[in-house]
This record gives sequence, structure tokens and C-alpha cells, in this order.
Amino acid sequence: MKVPVPLGIGFFLLKVAAQSTPNGSKFHKRIDNEASICNNINENDSHYRIRTDEMCRVKPLISTSNQLSAIIYPTGGSGAMSTLQIQSIRALSELIKDRRSIRAFRTDPIDTDLITDLLNVAVWAPTHGLREPWRFILYKGDARKPLAEAMIRTYTAEEKERLAQQKLDYFMQIPAHLIVVMKEDPRQKQWEEDYACVSCLIQNFQLAAWEVGIGVVWKTNPFIHNPSFREAAGVQPGEKIVGLLHIGYPEQVPAGRPRTDAREKLTIKETI
Ligand SMILES: Cc1cc2nc3c(=O)[nH]c(=O)nc-3n(C[C@H](O)[C@H](O)[C@H](O)COP(=O)(O)O)c2cc1C
Repeated sequence: MKVPVPLGIGFFLLKVAAQSTPNGSKFHKRIDNEASICNNINENDSHYRIRTDEMCRVKPLISTSNQLSAIIYPTGGSGAMSTLQIQSIRALSELIKDRRSIRAFRTDPIDTDLITDLLNVAVWAPTHGLREPWRFILYKGDARKPLAEAMIRTYTAEEKERLAQQKLDYFMQIPAHLIVVMKEDPRQKQWEEDYACVSCLIQNFQLAAWEVGIGVVWKTNPFIHNPSFREAAGVQPGEKIVGLLHIGYPEQVPAGRPRTDAREKLTIKETI
């Protein structure tokens, strides 16, 4: 159950740390001289420890959706760069079960640095032969429009008439789109291993993002196979789009759909 966060608890958990990057910090967000709203602290805030270096003041806020947000005020001199660190203490099993595919996003932008930090967690996926067969193409800002238009060009005339504007609007209000591609190995065994490991990478990314309050949906719409979309998206021959990930702070988190108990699908063999 998600518990509304009383303001006092938010303050209680904020700690100002002199050191810049204590071990165990899951990600950091650089703050320039501008006051910055950090919205990605959500759900039950007891999952998080927030640290800033001494160049920042942090004021926690509570948004209407019961998410804990914080305004970060840099207090250093001109050009000072401060670091906000959010350390998750949430158990991995809980994180896995809590994660939801997000399809309704807020428009708040997401730092490219944050996305690359999350990718640098995700790349610790198992990868046979350390082939690391992945590559990423990130679309943000104005660059989202030609990507959306490339998607719409794959529609039938009837779909364009009915859906084009709605799909363009939806696409443009999501802060970031990440295309995850895999280098296609011509050998079947290696292809399968590589597809599996890129899938592990995507799940790592989804979990690391969820941990810091960022929602993702992994899309595999038919247009990802369309040559004109692939070309417009910058995908090379010999590369497969494994996922188009929409990324942003959740506007709505759907209820989880329960999974079948694994025991119903488990065959146990202990004796002969
Ligand atoms: C390989 C793969 C492809 C997916 N493609 C889509 C998609 O094209 N559109 C979509 O809305 N969701 C897609 N999803 C997300 C699933 O629909 C989602 O995981 C499922 O509904 C379970 O919800 P949950 O992730 O919130 O537990 C995909 C998931 C996977 C693993």
C-alpha cells in the first residue's frame, strides 16, 4: 500500500552530507546555480535517503499525488556545481514487484545525465562472451517530433486520419524516448544469447529507473520493423530494435496485475 508522506517525515530523512559521493549512492543529479525541483522521489519515502553536499539546501515538498518532491537550492558561489544523491534502501524483491509499465507520464523533463547513469547500471546485465551487443539512441526535445512523424508515416491512411494527431501529442508529451538496439549476430546461438542479454539490460534499466521514481514502458509496436522508421530513427542495417522505451515521471501508476504462483508452473524432480 502506498502511504501518503507527512512533511515531517520528509524532513527527518533529509541529511546533509559533507562528502560528495558516499559509497552506496544509487544515482546522483547535478544541480547548477538554478533552483531545481527534483520530482523523482516517490512512494513511501522511507525507501530513500537523500543527501546533498554542503552547496545545497533541500526543501521537501509533497505533491498532490502523494509523491515526495524536493526543491534543491544551490548555495555555492557562481558556477558551483552541487550534487544531490538519492540512496535507495528498498529491497530488490520489493522493487521488482512494485515496478509497473507506465503509459501516462508527466511532462517534467528528465536529465540526460540521469538517463546515462541509469544506463550505466543497466549495462551490468549478464552478457555472454562480454559481447555487450547493445546500442542506444535517445530522443529528447525537438528531436522527438521527426521520430513521431516517422512512426505516423507507417500508419495506413485510415489510421493517419483517426490517430495521427493523438499519437503525435502523446509522443511529444513524454520527456524521453530511448531506442535500444542489438547488433544482430548471424549465428543463431549468439543471436539468442544477445537478444536475451539486451532484454536483461532493458529490465535492469526499468528497475533502476523505478527505484528513483522514473517510469518506463517497453514498446515493441509493429513500426519498429518498418524500414522507413528504422532509417529515420538512425538504426543501422544489421541492428534490431529490441525496445522503444518511453521514459518519464509517472502521471498514473496502474495497479499491478497479479502473476500466477510459480508453483503452478514448477515441476520438481527430487527422486528417480
Ligand atoms: C518484450 C516486451 C514487449 C512489450 N511491448 C509492449 C508494447 O508494445 N506496448 C505496450 O503497451 N506494452 C508493452 N510491453 C509491456 C507489457 O505490456 C507489460 O509488461 C505488461 O502489461 C505487464 O505490466 P507491468 O510491466 O506493469 O507488470 C512489453 C513488454 C515486454 C517484456
